[in-house]
Formats: sequence, structure tokens, C-alpha cells
Amino acid sequence: MNLMDAIRENAQKLNKRIVLPEGTEERTLKAADYIIKEKIARIILLGNVKEIEEKCKLMGLQNIHKATIIDPLNNPDIEKYATLLFEIRKSKGLSYEDAIKLTKNPLYLGTLLIKAGEADGEVAGAINATGNVLRPAFQVVKTLPGISVVSGAFIMIFKDNPYVPGNIMVFSDCAVNPDPTAAELAEIAVSTALTAKNIAKIEPRVAMLSFSTKGSAKHALVDKVVEATRLAREKAPWLAIDGELQADAAIVESVGKNKAPDSDIAGKANVLVFPGLESGNIAYKLVQRFSGAQAVGPILQGMAAPINDLSRGCSDTDIVNLIAITANQAAGIN
Ligand code: ACO
Repeated sequence: MNLMDAIRENAQKLNKRIVLPEGTEERTLKAADYIIKEKIARIILLGNVKEIEEKCKLMGLQNIHKATIIDPLNNPDIEKYATLLFEIRKSKGLSYEDAIKLTKNPLYLGTLLIKAGEADGEVAGAINATGNVLRPAFQVVKTLPGISVVSGAFIMIFKDNPYVPGNIMVFSDCAVNPDPTAAELAEIAVSTALTAKNIAKIEPRVAMLSFSTKGSAKHALVDKVVEATRLAREKAPWLAIDGELQADAAIVESVGKNKAPDSDIAGKANVLVFPGLESGNIAYKLVQRFSGAQAVGPILQGMAAPINDLSRGCSDTDIVNLIAITANQAAGIN
């Protein structure tokens, strides 16, 4: 069975409640209909009930009536959720009136449903930019204990690629932190190794990428990756990790042997940690388009409850896959 089928099958056993704040968006509706039909998760849609019903009729969707639908603009429980938001954010200066306004925003309401224990996870981002999905998540759901930085990984599923034994790699951070510090990069490396192990089901061999291999270049950006590698080892002594490595030294055996002969990771890496968001985001998109690899994610790592952000170019199948992953994360599998 391939990885995504296994993740979907496991989600069916878990029967988690996943909230979709973009409840009137057509790819989201199509994905929700499939998820309900295949019993991959229970679905909570946020949006105008009439609009959802009309779209389902036009699109011939047969299963959406089994979803829970909440209209953020006509919500009988708005005061309950606004009070919850006010309590969480009043120390940051949020007034109750502003909490009421924010609770009408589906991206806030989704996170409040999770905080209230009424949903297990959220998937959004088909029509909203990443920052707008992440901000309420960071403010309301926050991070896991011991984690200071949330990051976004992609599981890259290749078709018989000579550089990818097993055809699966994990790339991170491709979605969240524009310019992580060395300590943040170390945390990202550990979180990504756990995603690789628990979600992608591979034994992580982590390469901390740079434009330098083992001192071949001297620059403050190289020093940051060297320090991050040291901190990650300190944080997680069990971790198979090395850096700084260039991309070819990380994944091509002959280059790895030549440039980093003493490394256990060089030439064998299956988890690539990029030094910043520019390289991570650009790299995953280029690899996806040039190689035809399937890019599953971004899978957000380090949130106290799973909230995952879609790319606005996503397909309904991408949404189905991310819902199944979110359900697995909600069961503590990450
Ligand atoms: N992990 C955990 N918490 C965070 C993180 C993080 N990485 N970043 C910010 N926060 C928290 C802050 O501590 C703060 O919490 P507080 O209000 O309780 O004190 C809250 O989030 C807001 O922090 P700001 O610094 O105001 O964050 P801002 O809203 O400016 O930006 C954001 C955060 C949205 C994640 C920003 O870093 C961003 O836009 N990143 C780039 C996202 C992006 O565009 N990615 C590329 C596209 S994704 C794709 O292609 C798949």
C-alpha cells in the first residue's frame, strides 16, 4: 500500500473531527464530500448554509448534508467563542468587541472550535494566504510544550528517482519562518525528523543544507547552519543529522563521499532542512514541478493541535490528503 493510502486508511479508524473554514470554496466542498463518503473524518464546514447547499446541488455532491455546518456570520454561539478568544488574548490588549468581530472570521472561529474541544484539527488556505491562516492558529491554539517555533514540512513523494531510495523525502521549513535563528533551525530539524518518522514513515537522516560543505565557504550564514546542527544534536542526541552540507553532497553518494568523507549522512539524506524560507519554499516548488514529485503539505509541525495550511494552487485531492494527515496528527501520531 502506498503512503497516502496508508494515511487515509489510518484516518478512517480515528474518525477525527476536522474543521474546514473555507466551507463555500468548491475544491474544499468536493474534498469534504469525498472525505465524508469514504469516512476518512467527520467534517465541520464554516460558511453560509444556503450558499453551501446551492453549490452542492450544482456540483452534484451527495454527502455534504452529513457535515456539521456553522455560519460564522449567523452563529447562535458567537458569545461563547468570543469570550474564549477574549480570555486568551485580553493580556495582548484585545477588547471583547474586537473578539466578537474576529469570531465572525471563519479562520478565527475554526481555531476557537479546536480550543473549545469541539474539533480535532483544521485545514485551510485554499483561498487564504498562509499568514492569514497561521496568525489565528498561533494566537489561539499556540505551540506544543517545549516548542517555540512552528514550521511547515512537505512530504515529497517521487516516482523512481535515482537520488531518492524509497522514493520519499521530507523538506522543511518550506512555509513559515522567513529567517530562523540557529536555535530555531535546530528546533525545525528535530520537528522535521519526527514528521519524517511518524507521518512519512521513514527513518530520518537529516541534512542541514547550506551553500557550503564542511567549511568550504566562510560566511555568517554558514556559521548559522553549523551552530544549528550542533544545537540539534544537543537537543536530540538520538538524531542522525549532519551539516553544513550542500544539496548535492547531501543526496548524491559520490559527491557526498568526495566532499564530506567522514559524514554518515552525506549522500544518504532523506530529510532536507533548508537554512531559510526563501530556499525552502523555492526548492520544494522547483522539485515538485521539474521532477513530477507529489508535494504533500505543508504539514505544520509543533502546533498544540494540528492546523494545516494549503497552497492556493491546491487541488481537491491535495485537500483530501491534508485532511487525512491532519486526522493522523490529531491522534498524536506526530
Ligand atoms: N511559531 C510559533 N508562533 C509564532 C511563529 C512561529 N513560527 N511566528 C509567529 N508566532 C506567534 C508570535 O509569537 C505571536 O504570538 P503572540 O501574538 O501570542 O505574541 C503571533 O504568532 C503573531 O506574531 P507576529 O510576529 O505578529 O507574526 P506575524 O503575524 O507578523 O507573522 C507569520 C507570522 C504569518 C507566520 C509570518 O512569519 C509569515 O507570514 N511567514 C511567511 C508565510 C508565508 O508566506 N509562507 C510562504 C507561502 S506557504 C506555501 O507556499 C506553501
